[in-house]
Amino acid sequence: VRLGANLDIDLKLLKSNIQALRALVSKTDILFMVKANGYGHGMVPVARYALEECGVGNYGVATLFEGLKLRKAIPERPFDIYVFSENHLTSQYAEQYAHSALIPVLSSLDELDLFLSEKAFSRVPLVLKFNTGMNRLGLSMGEDELELVLSKLKNKGRREIFHLMTHFGRSFEPLSAPGQTTLAQMQSFEQIRQRFSQEGFSIQYTSTSNSGAIEQGVGVGLSHVRPGLMLYGPSSLATSTLWKGQSISSLKVQVLRRMSVKKKTPIGYGGALTPEDGTVCILAIGYGDGFSTKLQNTILYHLPGKPMFFGRINMDMAQLFYTGSGTGIPKEGDVLEIWGHDPAHILSMSAQSGIIPYEIYCALGDRIPRKYTL
Ligand SMILES: Cc1ncc(COP(=O)(O)O)c(C=O)c1O
Repeated sequence: VRLGANLDIDLKLLKSNIQALRALVSKTDILFMVKANGYGHGMVPVARYALEECGVGNYGVATLFEGLKLRKAIPERPFDIYVFSENHLTSQYAEQYAHSALIPVLSSLDELDLFLSEKAFSRVPLVLKFNTGMNRLGLSMGEDELELVLSKLKNKGRREIFHLMTHFGRSFEPLSAPGQTTLAQMQSFEQIRQRFSQEGFSIQYTSTSNSGAIEQGVGVGLSHVRPGLMLYGPSSLATSTLWKGQSISSLKVQVLRRMSVKKKTPIGYGGALTPEDGTVCILAIGYGDGFSTKLQNTILYHLPGKPMFFGRINMDMAQLFYTGSGTGIPKEGDVLEIWGHDPAHILSMSAQSGIIPYEIYCALGDRIPRKYTL
């Protein structure tokens, strides 16, 4: 742990983001993606708050062990936990699913076979995810595989699908962007759904949409949406006008040292030369905290003096360069807001560095304390 950097998480902003989302998708239930430690914000405190204070009853994690951790942390209330990608569907873990009421998202024939053959899974809801064009995970919708899925389910007498899903590959781009596939994927999903209905299957829930799709109004008439990023604040579309979330976190970092420098002073590893006379502040954050070296040269436009991360980011520290040495330049011990609750801050860092906001959030290591305000 270090004391010079903190991720402050204002859970009231999570509530207002959830309210803003509900205003957009009034009849749709929320399946909140809290995988990868709640996108770096702390899976358990974030999910606990969303459950207890905002009434969100469905959560998405990536791995079985994330799911087990979440269930164990909040044993007292019923809520659904879906395990999306690394679900370890083997007999070794089947009982864990049943016992902890976790719901595996089945996305291959092998997973379906294991699910149908293990007795412990006979009590577990059936969730199928189809590949409609993203080509990552998902049962194939090619005629042969779809027919095989139908016959396997019929043979086992499982005619109730709890939740039918797909996932978009390009919903973070405007629907008008060249080569967009979101609407075509949506159509394919509709075909799959119809095929199940024709065969007499009941489908309780359906969902397709992550943040980018929700922001563009795609799939919001289904029973659920599956937002991640937007509930943490930022839009996942570079050109969003619709989403007005606030970043629930703010990264606060202390100035460890400050020095006045002349033009062409070499700074830190590699000795990058200062472009003019100015002030260098050494900050208490580095790549050892997940603060990427790619953030070199990123300008913090929201801070007075518009300082820039200058020279190589170190393991434990980073240098900020200010032109000049006048008022407004922080002193040793001062705390700077590397990003604040305005999502424009992290989105600007992302645009300049080429690191998607998901990665900036998720990379933050556990040396940085998370502080929660209610
Ligand atoms: C299957 C699935 N649904 C929903 C999401 C949420 O995506 P986003 O954070 O873009 O809203 C993810 C995240 O990667 C996902 O894998």
